[in-house]
Amino acid sequence: VRRLAPALLLLLVATVGADADDAADVNEECLACHADPDLSTTLGDGALQSLTVDPAAYAASKHARRRCTDCHPGFEEQPHPAWDTSSRPAYRATYHELCKRCHPQQHARAEDGVHFRLLAQGDQRAPFCTDCHGVHDIEAPDEPRSRISRTCGRCHTAVAAVYAESVHGRALLGSGDPDVPVCTDCHRPHDIADPSSRAWKLGTPDTCARCHGDPAVAARHGMSPNVIKTYLADFHGMTASLQRRQAGGAPGVATALCVDCHGIHDIVKVDAASSPVVRERLVQTCRKCHGDATDSFPAAWMSHYDPSFERSPLVAGVLFFYRLIIPYIVGGLLLQVGIHAWSLFLARRGSVA
Ligand code: HEC
Ligand code: HEC
Ligand code: HEC
Ligand code: HEC
Ligand code: HEC
Ligand code: HEC
Ligand code: HEC
Ligand code: HEC
Ligand code: HEC
Repeated sequence: VRRLAPALLLLLVATVGADADDAADVNEECLACHADPDLSTTLGDGALQSLTVDPAAYAASKHARRRCTDCHPGFEEQPHPAWDTSSRPAYRATYHELCKRCHPQQHARAEDGVHFRLLAQGDQRAPFCTDCHGVHDIEAPDEPRSRISRTCGRCHTAVAAVYAESVHGRALLGSGDPDVPVCTDCHRPHDIADPSSRAWKLGTPDTCARCHGDPAVAARHGMSPNVIKTYLADFHGMTASLQRRQAGGAPGVATALCVDCHGIHDIVKVDAASSPVVRERLVQTCRKCHGDATDSFPAAWMSHYDPSFERSPLVAGVLFFYRLIIPYIVGGLLLQVGIHAWSLFLARRGSVA
């Protein structure tokens, strides 16, 4: 085997090399015409369709080592066949199944997503593979990570502008913080769910929990690691968990989810003046649902924090008392039992003697 190994390696290199040479040959033939920056055609609906492929961008792309004909089967013989050029949607439909052959997983997921559903209904504004990834210039979609939010932001301009000003967006775009969520951390890239569906909404605390329940992330950013735990132990969180388990329950969500108090794309630091949970504005946030909440309503609620003397002196005092007193009580009890046993032992020895 050891003697065979170099030969096998050579064979492998030769095969890959030949493959690459073959690709280069085919591609050069196509690019002889398609590198021309003026090559174009007019579609049936009057739109001008460029037929130029930039060789430099192609060589720098993830598909540089694919033959043109891997994606354009049947174009091997010249002159090659033509597509349906009656309109841009018809022209575009030619490639809807194209990426599936090599990326079946992403294709299957996309079929379950909101964009595909929109396309199936004839909404031509919704993106398919190449609208997010490009065509002949496809690069890694997540390098740098901020690229993801820019991709979605090309169409969702209003959401992206709000997100850019949020605590998450600022950290991403400002310092490239790898810990904050981009669009796809909450929505996923391919099987994007309908954000107004009950099941998805009830799942959002889990999305936040991926980071806000992680002590390492909390420590790196000086945040409390207990916000998930305290939320789930509270009436709002308990009700949310309960509603999740009742599949097909009443429509809508009848409790407060994280995003009801903190916002969604506009989440800011909890002590920022514009925060919906900053002390001065908190009661207004409660009133979205508790219409008759008085000014002192939020004060009666423990929110997320573990009790401390500054925030809830009474609760903290009671806890402190218990922590202090319980060891004495238990210790005292054990001591008493011990003394009793000892005296019993002494008494017995006395009676034997
Ligand atoms: C990864 C798959 C893939 C590879 C590899 C590929 N193409 Fe394409 N090509 C596509 C898709 C998808 C479209 C349709 C894009 C659209 O909607 O305009 C397309 C469209 C075209 C068009 C029509 C103009 C246009 O942009 O729509 C030309 C010309 C073309 N390709 C030439 C080439 C050449 C030449 C190569 C090799 C250098 C190549 N392609 C390699 C996927 C590919
Ligand atoms: C001799 C020049 C020439 C060569 C070589 C050539 N093409 Fe084309 N190609 C054209 C022209 C011209 C059109 C526009 C045809 C039209 O308007 O119907 C075109 C159109 C296309 C289209 C768009 C389909 C359409 O009907 O508009 C694709 C995709 C394409 N070529 C891919 C390739 C690939 C892949 C190769 C290499 C295997 C290749 N071409 C080689 C000249 C060429
Ligand atoms: C003939 C097979 C083939 C087809 C068809 C194909 N791809 Fe690819 N694609 C690959 C391979 C192989 C890679 C990995 C290249 C590498 O990592 O160097 C790749 C890489 C990618 C990547 C980068 C993935 C990453 O992790 O960085 C994206 C995005 C992508 N393809 C999208 C598409 C889209 C969109 C289409 C349809 C227009 C398509 N591909 C069609 C074979 C294909
Ligand atoms: C709405 C935009 C969008 C559409 C449409 C889209 N993608 Fe992606 N895709 C992304 C983003 C963003 C990423 C990377 C970020 C991530 O994984 O969170 C990605 C990642 C990928 C990758 C890298 C591996 C992976 O799964 O992370 C491949 C391959 C890929 N997409 C192929 C496709 C194919 C094929 C289609 C069409 C069926 C498609 N994409 C449709 C946005 C899109
Ligand atoms: C080419 C344009 C385009 C791109 C790129 C795009 N989208 Fe969309 N998206 C649309 C359109 C159009 C709709 C339907 C109209 C609407 O609600 O805005 C839509 C709908 C949605 C919806 C459902 C909205 C609702 O109210 O039901 C979500 C969620 C979504 N997109 C997320 C994303 C994410 C995440 C990305 C990036 C990975 C992305 N989109 C990239 C065009 C795009
Ligand atoms: C921290 C998680 C999170 C991040 C990050 C996020 N979203 Fe959302 N998004 C949500 C939630 C939760 C909803 C549902 C709101 C509701 O209850 O109706 C939503 C709703 C949406 C909607 C539909 C309703 C609307 O406001 O238009 C679109 C479109 C959307 N998001 C796109 C994006 C895009 C684009 C990005 C990136 C720039 C992004 N989201 C980043 C959590 C997030
Ligand atoms: C009923 C409203 C409400 C709900 C629901 C809620 N929060 Fe909070 N959250 C608050 C308030 C009020 C504060 C500020 C507490 C304080 O004074 O420090 C806060 C603080 C925070 C903080 C900052 C902690 C720190 O380090 O100071 C984070 C992070 C947070 N919440 C995340 C979440 C997540 C994740 C969820 C869902 C699992 C959630 N919140 C649910 C009201 C809420
Ligand atoms: C991918 C990880 C991730 C996800 C998912 C995520 N966050 Fe965050 N979040 C962070 C990080 C990291 C910070 C700290 C950013 C900074 O200050 O640099 C943060 C900051 C915050 C803050 C400000 C805390 C403060 O110090 O005042 C709030 C509030 C918050 N997130 C709420 C949410 C909610 C609600 C969700 C779910 C809808 C969510 N986050 C989803 C990582 C995440
Ligand atoms: C999105 C709507 C919503 C918001 C915002 C909201 N709540 Fe609630 N809250 C509910 C619902 C619905 C219930 C009853 C079901 C349950 O226990 O979750 C409830 C229950 C409660 C209860 C338990 C006692 C009772 O009245 O049933 C208290 C206390 C409470 N909320 C306090 C608050 C405080 C304080 C705030 C603001 C910081 C707040 N809530 C914000 C919807 C909300």
